Amino acid sequence: MRVTNCTVRMPAKINLCLGVGPRRRDGFHELATVFQAVDLYDKISVRQAADITLTMPGSESENLPLGDKNLAVKAAKLLRLRHGSPDMGVHIEITKKIPVAGGMAGGSGNAAGVLLACNKLWGLDLSDEQLHALALELGSDVPFMLSGGTALGFGRGEELTQLPHSGKLNWVLATNRQGLSTPRVFETFDAMGANGDVSSPDDLVQALKRPDADAVAGLLRNDLQPAALSMRPDLKNILKAGIEAGALSGLVSGSGPTCVFLVKDRRAARKVGAAVGSCMGVASALAVSGPAVPSVRINTDGE
Ligand code: C5P
Repeated sequence: MRVTNCTVRMPAKINLCLGVGPRRRDGFHELATVFQAVDLYDKISVRQAADITLTMPGSESENLPLGDKNLAVKAAKLLRLRHGSPDMGVHIEITKKIPVAGGMAGGSGNAAGVLLACNKLWGLDLSDEQLHALALELGSDVPFMLSGGTALGFGRGEELTQLPHSGKLNWVLATNRQGLSTPRVFETFDAMGANGDVSSPDDLVQALKRPDADAVAGLLRNDLQPAALSMRPDLKNILKAGIEAGALSGLVSGSGPTCVFLVKDRRAARKVGAAVGSCMGVASALAVSGPAVPSVRINTDGE
């Protein structure tokens, strides 16, 4: 049976802890992080086509490139180059819900989704290890996005250990109208002479086992936050508003500018959402939960 089309739903990610060490000789920083994927999804549909093309309907993606600069197109081309043949093609359609340049790995998730989907569409049957190697060539967060869930990450974030799914955590995301550039946030981190803690976040891993939201709240940490706040002081008001409205804790997500708040339950989420949603610069306040995982749906021609 030939796969005619395939649809994947790729979650957003947040970092519950982002320990950042000094810049390495390869230009990347050593990390000790806990990733969690949350249930805010981009939808990626792929179908057989003569060449590799991309469309992105909707206003979220208005200013995004559709050609070779797009990480989703890069993913399809890399997969074809390494494991396919030149006659393979795909039309990719991405419907975005995850904010662009928001520190939630939307672009990385799109690239991971294309790897998962085209692996099925083109019948390549690559192993998890092969997909992981391609993912790392595309970006530091792409390997985690292949599996989602909750994971401990070292190195650039690619040395992954999945943590057991023991229960949901409730979050509020305050997305922002204006994005932040990840390389610039890392540069600011360097310029500030910052040097974070890249030891294994064992206390957080223990707290996640239950999961004990109060204990998790006390252990959330982002070494990039001072750099992100120095570039965008307005984010301080958003963090303050969320805490005052009853969030257990709040922090900048990844390199920002999305701010993420841990809340006790849905009721608290509504209160915190209303408070941060009215802050200047906030595009939307979204109640989400984690962990979430990618889903893959395949259609065949039935032959
Ligand atoms: O890996 P990715 O292309 O997503 O990274 C984007 C940029 O973020 C890198 O070019 C680098 O400046 C910075 N980065 C870093 N250390 C990491 C991950 C990303 O310095 N571990």
